[in-house]
Amino acid sequence: MSPVKPQPANRLILLGAPGAGKGTVAKALVDLFGLSHLSTGDMLRAAVAAGTPLGKQAKSFMDAGALVPDELMVGLIADRVQQPDCKSAAGLVRFLLDGFPRTLPQADALDAGKLGPDLVVYLNVDDSVLVDRLCGRRTCPNCGSPFHIHFAPPKVSGICDRCGTALVHRSDDQEDAIRKRLEAFHRQTGPLVGRYAACLVTIDGAQSPAGVLAEVVSALRLRGAIADRTDDSAHAAS
Ligand code: AP5
Ligand code: MG
Repeated sequence: MSPVKPQPANRLILLGAPGAGKGTVAKALVDLFGLSHLSTGDMLRAAVAAGTPLGKQAKSFMDAGALVPDELMVGLIADRVQQPDCKSAAGLVRFLLDGFPRTLPQADALDAGKLGPDLVVYLNVDDSVLVDRLCGRRTCPNCGSPFHIHFAPPKVSGICDRCGTALVHRSDDQEDAIRKRLEAFHRQTGPLVGRYAACLVTIDGAQSPAGVLAEVVSALRLRGAIADRTDDSAHAAS
């Protein structure tokens, strides 16, 4: 009898404080495994830039380093997971969530929609490291790739390696807002670590970006949570 091949997890969550490296790890996992990356921060920034009603409501909360109200976020994700890229060949909802859930009511909403995670990866980093990371971050407004002026500099200063767009400094990456975001993380998002204890893997997010990625990939493989693209197509065809 042939051994049973581990199936890729359908629903993964990246949990971590502001600057813990969620976006950096997510981009790399998308490149490696073709997952559907849903970053609520990126979705909100796009809504702000487009001047949509959601963007207008969210902007003041984001600039102040506060969380956007749960009802807006739950509605945003409920709509987004209906898109075709979040459906597996078997018709299951699949995603790599980055920045959601961030409160217990948001986690409750996932459960209520039968969208609870198969696996949660918690990137654990000390606050003292995070402030430096966020102050030096530069982001591509076109493709979302994250850089850092010291830790992950672009090949050409101020220009995205991936798509050549001029990099920007996020408006909430100012020291005051960063402190408030960290405080909101500990108070409102921290309890999710306990909530997801049964399906949580904790990664030391203070290592180099390559070290973090290697540890995340090996943890996901160990738990049968990912399949390489070729395995994935085999899975889809089965
Ligand atoms: P969001 O965009 O999600 O921001 P965040 O959670 O504060 O996280 P960041 O994007 O700042 O950090 P990251 O973990 O992605 O780190 P990154 O990989 O970029 O949300 C923004 C706002 O939107 C929130 O404040 C809130 O207002 C609102 N919002 C979003 N979702 C919400 C929700 N569900 N509910 C309510 N409100 C919501 O890395 C950071 C920097 O460090 C980069 O420069 C990177 O190059 C560098 N770096 C990464 N990894 C390493 C490493 N290992 N070593 C050294 N440097 C590294
Ligand atoms: Mg991010």
